[in-house]
Amino acid sequence: MTKVPSFETARLLLKPVTLGDLPGYQKYFVDYEVIRHLSDAVPWPYPDDGVRFFLENVILPVQGKDRWVWGIFMKTNPDELIGCVDLWREGRPENRGFWLGRPFWGQGLITEAVEPTIDYAFSHLGFEKLIFSNALGNTRSRRVKEKTGARLIGTRPAKFVDPGLSEAETWELQKEDWDRLKADQNKNFKPPR
Ligand SMILES: CC(C)(COP(=O)(O)OP(=O)(O)OC[C@H]1O[C@@H](n2cnc3c(N)ncnc32)[C@H](O)[C@@H]1OP(=O)(O)O)[C@@H](O)C(=O)NCCC(=O)NCCS
Repeated sequence: MTKVPSFETARLLLKPVTLGDLPGYQKYFVDYEVIRHLSDAVPWPYPDDGVRFFLENVILPVQGKDRWVWGIFMKTNPDELIGCVDLWREGRPENRGFWLGRPFWGQGLITEAVEPTIDYAFSHLGFEKLIFSNALGNTRSRRVKEKTGARLIGTRPAKFVDPGLSEAETWELQKEDWDRLKADQNKNFKPPR
């Protein structure tokens, strides 16, 4: 078991999720527009005590062991969780999930949030590649993969909370592709004068 580290990005703080984060988790996660894109293993209608049950029984017992779950917080409001990035060792086939509260969509926040977690997976957790997945039609989630250098490797039948979604896209991010993307970004970075 390792301690899950916290990260700081330009606009965000990422902190290991705790039971203290229940209010924000409940407020932003229990929203059909967020949940409908997730695997049909997630119940809908969502039970009243579902978030507490999930944190207490599914996440916290393995946090830092073979699962690493970060709450996402705006630096301007550092006590309210607005989303999560979730990494796990055993591919199903994917190794990651994420969600963000609806009021925060479309500002590049998830793309910003996943960056330090990908770095951590490759540099500290020993991953050589990461597999990601999204429902075919979840264009926002797809863009996050494209923007972070992942390659589409296939589609497969899958079930989601929204019964209208019936296929999943599978993506692969190799460590060497991530390293190359980061090196290119650093090359193009011009410090402010
Ligand atoms: C997927 C999710 C985390 C994206 O969060 P986000 O912070 O809005 O993502 P970003 O802003 O970093 O990137 C989203 C991209 O989608 C684009 N986008 C925004 N609105 C869009 C729309 N209506 N249709 C298509 N693309 C759209 C954005 O412009 C951005 O791409 P760009 O940088 O090329 O402009 C968020 O929508 C969410 O929580 N959805 C529900 C849960 C979910 O789907 N989780 C992932 C399961 S695989």
